[in-house]
Amino acid sequence: MDDIVEAMDDVVDQVRADYDAVPYDSHAFPHTAPGHLAAIAHLFGLNAPEVASARVLEIGCSAGGNLIPFAASNPQARVVGVDLSQVQIDEGRARVQALGLGNLELLQGDIAGMDLAALGQFDFIICHGVYSWVPENVQEAILAAFQRLLAPEGVAYVSYNVYPGWKAKEIVRDAMMMRGAGRGTSDEKLSFARGMIDFLEEVAPADSVLARALADYKAIAVASRDYHLMHEYLETFNTPCYFLELLERAGEHGLAYLADAQPETMFAVNYGAKVAEPLLKECGHSQVLLAQYLDFVVNRTFRQSLLVHADRAPQIRYQLDHSRYGRLHFAAWVPRADGETRLDNSRQEYGEPGGPTLFAQDPAVKAALDALNARWPWTLSRKELLDAVQTRLGADGIEAATNQHELIDGLLDILIMQGQASYRLDPLLPELASTPPRLDEPTRRMAELTRVDADASTFNLWHEALLLSPVDSHLLPLLDGTRDRDALVEALLALAREDLIQFERNGERLSGEAELRDAVAEHIDALPQRLARMKLLRVNDHAEAGR
Ligand SMILES: C[S@@+](CC[C@H](N)C(=O)[O-])C[C@H]1O[C@@H](n2cnc3c(N)ncnc32)[C@H](O)[C@@H]1O
Repeated sequence: MDDIVEAMDDVVDQVRADYDAVPYDSHAFPHTAPGHLAAIAHLFGLNAPEVASARVLEIGCSAGGNLIPFAASNPQARVVGVDLSQVQIDEGRARVQALGLGNLELLQGDIAGMDLAALGQFDFIICHGVYSWVPENVQEAILAAFQRLLAPEGVAYVSYNVYPGWKAKEIVRDAMMMRGAGRGTSDEKLSFARGMIDFLEEVAPADSVLARALADYKAIAVASRDYHLMHEYLETFNTPCYFLELLERAGEHGLAYLADAQPETMFAVNYGAKVAEPLLKECGHSQVLLAQYLDFVVNRTFRQSLLVHADRAPQIRYQLDHSRYGRLHFAAWVPRADGETRLDNSRQEYGEPGGPTLFAQDPAVKAALDALNARWPWTLSRKELLDAVQTRLGADGIEAATNQHELIDGLLDILIMQGQASYRLDPLLPELASTPPRLDEPTRRMAELTRVDADASTFNLWHEALLLSPVDSHLLPLLDGTRDRDALVEALLALAREDLIQFERNGERLSGEAELRDAVAEHIDALPQRLARMKLLRVNDHAEAGR
């Protein structure tokens, strides 16, 4: 027995050492946002906890980058993060302190060895990017923590690698591990592993499974930084499972499946009639079985599942229920694909290039899409949406159809099912931007704190991480509402003269005073649009934020 405990300790030490040596880039993941989880719970029939004052726990929080945006915008919330790596926790604590967040506590510890009861109860528990990358006893501890610490109406989020998609990816990981894992430093590990990939690429038969797996890996690798490749392909543990296996283990801990964190992936109709018809027939009302079969259809590699206490399962309804829309606030960007909206009965197409499209014929539906586009990226409640449609049609002398509410609820169905709408139980609607521009203090401070990193970043109210250019990482901290356009231009010019930031034109660095001043002025003049695009400021509702 002592031997087993010692072996476990060695494993935990190894994982801790991995993350201490190569800390994970710690930032916000929008699909884990408590406001998003609450809205999904509501959508599928459950009472959801109050978000603004929620108690939130993140297991494996690294440096707290996914908790900071929530804690900063919800001062009444109580937020706790736990992570094994002291290096990451120390880094996170320094940030939390610099941001002055008194409601966020970061604790170093092994979730499998902690006194869970001492942590208290939580309305939302998040575990992103951890479950598949830890030994089995830690996986058990995560599920046990969900069971013990989740409030009766709480929602837990867990993400993990899944089969069948990872079957082929494992070939690549195994090859990389065999050549790289035993090497000295993490740089050496990665370098030897990459050598293996290069070799295999040269010799793999063109139409082989290996060639396909390598091509998939390459597509990910070009867009990934070393820390990600290291932890995904060379991490001591990476144990994918089938969706049903995860649910079986969750069931042993008294937990039931609620939904996917991207609900649009749950609707069979999104995969075409050839997929939907046989699967819906085969799976009947079993959303779980349908989800598992869909994983084969799309060769899924990664899942984000929401779990609740099993006694709530009977209340879950997957059929979209319009009576639940009244409490929701919606944001959607579904631009017209074919010119101006015509408030007649002609058929018009809406949707972003490359994304899902929809066709609208009824004037009320078109007016609703215009209202959502005009408000985007901020929200309209269902009632505000109905009112906006009424006003617009009234102004054009168009009489409301008797089924106008149903038509608009039908539109909301489509936007939800196709993943074109974001929704919350509370409005996401900041005040209109003031002049001079002012950003919230945590948003500014975060840009300042991270500008020493390779990737400076901050976050917005949608719980999205925003990568910042070197210039913006210096500019955003200045937006405290005291500096007008001219003052901002002078401030950036001073930074450029000190060589702290650089401006280029056509790839050439600018140094002459006049050309530098022009470039800085251009950068400042484009600032309002840039901040609106980043969802950092709300500009006039009627100017559609260009994306
Ligand atoms: C792949 S990282 C993910 C970090 C972050 N959640 C994210 O998605 O960016 C896994 C994290 O889990 C932490 N971790 C691993 N084993 C743990 C354990 N037994 N208890 C607590 N945290 C653990 C690691 O230190 C690391 O920060």
